[in-house]
Amino acid sequence: MSTKTEKYQLLIQQIRQFAAEPVDLVSLLSNTAALLHHTFGFWWTGFYRVAGDELILSTFQGPVACTNIPFGKGVCGTAWKEQRSVVVPDVEQFPGHIACSSQSRSEIVVPLFVSNTNAPTHTQEKKSIWAVLDIDSDQLGTFDDTDRLHLEQIADILSNAYASLHSPIRDIYLAGGCFWGTQHYLSLLQGVLKAEAGYANGNIENPTYEQVYTDSTGYAETVHVRYDASVLPLSKLLEMFFKTIDPTSLNRQAHDIGTRYRTGIYFSDPDDLPVIRHSLKKLANNYSDPLVVEVTPLTAFYLAEEYHQDYLHKHPDGYCHIPLDLINEVKNSR
Ligand code: SME
Repeated sequence: MSTKTEKYQLLIQQIRQFAAEPVDLVSLLSNTAALLHHTFGFWWTGFYRVAGDELILSTFQGPVACTNIPFGKGVCGTAWKEQRSVVVPDVEQFPGHIACSSQSRSEIVVPLFVSNTNAPTHTQEKKSIWAVLDIDSDQLGTFDDTDRLHLEQIADILSNAYASLHSPIRDIYLAGGCFWGTQHYLSLLQGVLKAEAGYANGNIENPTYEQVYTDSTGYAETVHVRYDASVLPLSKLLEMFFKTIDPTSLNRQAHDIGTRYRTGIYFSDPDDLPVIRHSLKKLANNYSDPLVVEVTPLTAFYLAEEYHQDYLHKHPDGYCHIPLDLINEVKNSR
């Protein structure tokens, strides 16, 4: 019978193969959880992904588990906060342990760090974590340094795959009423590389402004934002965007009325969805009326005509529904 180390070594080889050309993160994490779980017969093996200020249950093997873990809470939240692996020989002795199952007796949590190999050394001091690997056993004292060291190796393999799948340069499509103001405002944010005015999610090809203006094409005036998520994470970008809209107003922002002025967040990467949902949930706390911001995958996007691009730059006195104070605030913070 092979030793624990031998089992881990074999398993690491297999995970390396899965991760060599990763096509999808969920597939990779699922196979990793399955391999670990069935090789060692653990009670629960899975991942929690970082979304805003909490961990959200991701792919796993084992019984139903709790879905949200706040930063710093439980073993998982502690590993995230303290940026280190946490080995718990007896869960009852760990203050604040979150018991998803009474059968769980010991636990290990290993953080998965965003690999940032090109960063200058001083920026590596504060590492960021994108997920944690959590394993529970129904026996006391299951995990030791052998587990920790091998699981940390596995975490590195997964994080490299994550980095190759997740370049920090990302795209999102934000509809916030008249695109002149939204484009201008978003283009001023630190971390935004490009903001282009266009039309999203309608039902004809190559729409013109005049066609969209009839409100019969399904298109919303939308800004395509390309941003560097290592400077401006999506949660922060959305927080800044929300300052410019009334998210409870259906098909109207300030003086602009019509479905083309609806508010919306259109994503091209489904991985953005948990962050979007979380940001909207937080935003909803500020309003008594329900939010009507549309959240759907991007189905179509066409650039608006050249005269709409950078309109407020070309016409500084042009109409803008976004308060000047807010625009100046962003300008001054640069
Ligand atoms: N015990 C964990 C919660 C997750 S479950 O073990 C699946 C914790 O305290 O963070």
